[in-house]
Amino acid sequence: MVVRKILLNGNPLLRKVSKPIKIMTPDIRKLVEDMIETMYENQGAGLAAVQIGELKRLIVIDVSEKKDQPFVLINPKIVEKSKEEIGKEACLSVPGLEGKVSRFQQIIVKAKNIHFKDVEVEAEGYFAVALQHEVDHLEGVLYIDRVETGTLKPSRDDEE
Ligand code: NI
Repeated sequence: MVVRKILLNGNPLLRKVSKPIKIMTPDIRKLVEDMIETMYENQGAGLAAVQIGELKRLIVIDVSEKKDQPFVLINPKIVEKSKEEIGKEACLSVPGLEGKVSRFQQIIVKAKNIHFKDVEVEAEGYFAVALQHEVDHLEGVLYIDRVETGTLKPSRDDEE
């Protein structure tokens, strides 16, 4: 597992639409491992493949307290959403900032898991928000595009 460099806002790759993964390969397994390692190393709650320069529809998320429950989704698609609320968000590709974004608090996502089997995930709260944030990355969208006017500000670690 290798900690990879995270692309920062301004890098044109972050604005591209990622491509679906058609088959599971050893390279993709390795990419998943690198993404998880990179997410943990940077204390992130999630990471999309494009953030380390791979334009593939692949995300990893871990919203657990102990950071020991990595969740891998391939070709994720949000199929149901409800209960929109505004909450604080940040992104490893936009360091030092945070802002408020309106997101759905209950969603259903269809995707493939690491074994390339179809899965349907019901997500709520912070997990649902993190999923929407990562799925946005696959479309070349950053949370700062959606931020509520006037809420983007320097992040303060001591608030966490
Ligand atoms: Ni992000």
